Amino acid sequence: MSKKILQVLNGQVCEAPPVWMMRQAGRYLPEYRELRATAGSFLNLVYDPVKAAEVTIQPIRRFAMDAAILFSDILVVPQAMGANLRFTQGEGPQLDAVRGMDDLARLDHSVVDHTLGPIYETVSRVRDGLITEGFDFCTLIGFAGSPWTIACYMVAGDARDHDFVLVKETAYRDPVFFDALIEKITDVTIGYLRQQILAGAEVVQLFDSWAGVAGGELFDRYVIAPSTKIVQALRTEFPQVPVIGFPRLAGNRIGDYARQTSVRAVGVDTISSMKHLRDELPGTVLQGNFDPIALLSGGKALEDAIARIKSEMMGTPYIFNLGHGIVPPTPIDHVARAVELIRK
Ligand code: CP3
Repeated sequence: MSKKILQVLNGQVCEAPPVWMMRQAGRYLPEYRELRATAGSFLNLVYDPVKAAEVTIQPIRRFAMDAAILFSDILVVPQAMGANLRFTQGEGPQLDAVRGMDDLARLDHSVVDHTLGPIYETVSRVRDGLITEGFDFCTLIGFAGSPWTIACYMVAGDARDHDFVLVKETAYRDPVFFDALIEKITDVTIGYLRQQILAGAEVVQLFDSWAGVAGGELFDRYVIAPSTKIVQALRTEFPQVPVIGFPRLAGNRIGDYARQTSVRAVGVDTISSMKHLRDELPGTVLQGNFDPIALLSGGKALEDAIARIKSEMMGTPYIFNLGHGIVPPTPIDHVARAVELIRK
């Protein structure tokens, strides 16, 4: 098998790790900004399979990344569940809030397949495009948000409060509603990832961007449990498709998360220690945790950080990535330099 990411996900060690970067398709690339301008809005781009496939492949042409990640967004799932979604310039995403059983019942679940259909078409177009353009080394990664993170956006309506006080209060005070919400999201997510795999995704990643906000009980009940359900459902049907979990900022609960969900790999945020996780989770592949701001900064900061991660991860199955997404002002040269150093 010539795809390095799949080799590493099967437990092999590569001398120079494979590399891809979260948000590798996006605003730091002029070719992305150009295409986004013709689409008019981010969501138009997401729901246009020809344009979304083009955007997915853009970073592969420039940097020969070892993986292409589907160009879409985690918030298409709540949108497909009937929650109205808006991206307003400079404000981040906004959803109509769902705060109790009545709100949940009012959502129009019948639109799920209709809304997500174009995304499956993007997946199959990317798969074909990678072959046509000769990128046979490149693995196609599909993705979804984890139920907890999606619930955070759905209950809060946005991510302005990074502590998600209202969301946690709702989870503690109205567990009947919160259980029902999580269960609904989990079921839709399983169907969504299943269709991505059938359309050609070779690996899927679960983004749990706000995992670190869930305290004690909430972490077990709403982060670990639904993620485990998703991993098991996918494994039963597609035993060969690895799942990468990204429980961002989950601190010393990452070990519990990895063992209980049995994800094949964990994505690691910028603050967690890779060395520590390498020793704690010998059977789990690691991915991460290069600081996107070191990438933005460039120079010695970038070089030192890459050298450190490479030496710490030597001899372990490891996929180079960032601890969070590329930020828009990042110079393209820094990304090119990073990829060059990683491959040296
Ligand atoms: O290149 C890739 O990584 C693939 C595509 C991708 C996007 N979003 C594209 C995008 C992926 C995997 C995501 C995941 C995502 N979306 C997450 C999880 C990862 C994380 O960052 O924690 C979250 C929380 C979201 C929700 C979301 N979508 C936010 C917070 C934003 C940023 C708002 C802003 O204006 O900065 C988005 C928009 C978004 N998603 C953009 C891109 C390229 C920017 C849209 C634009 O062109 O204006």
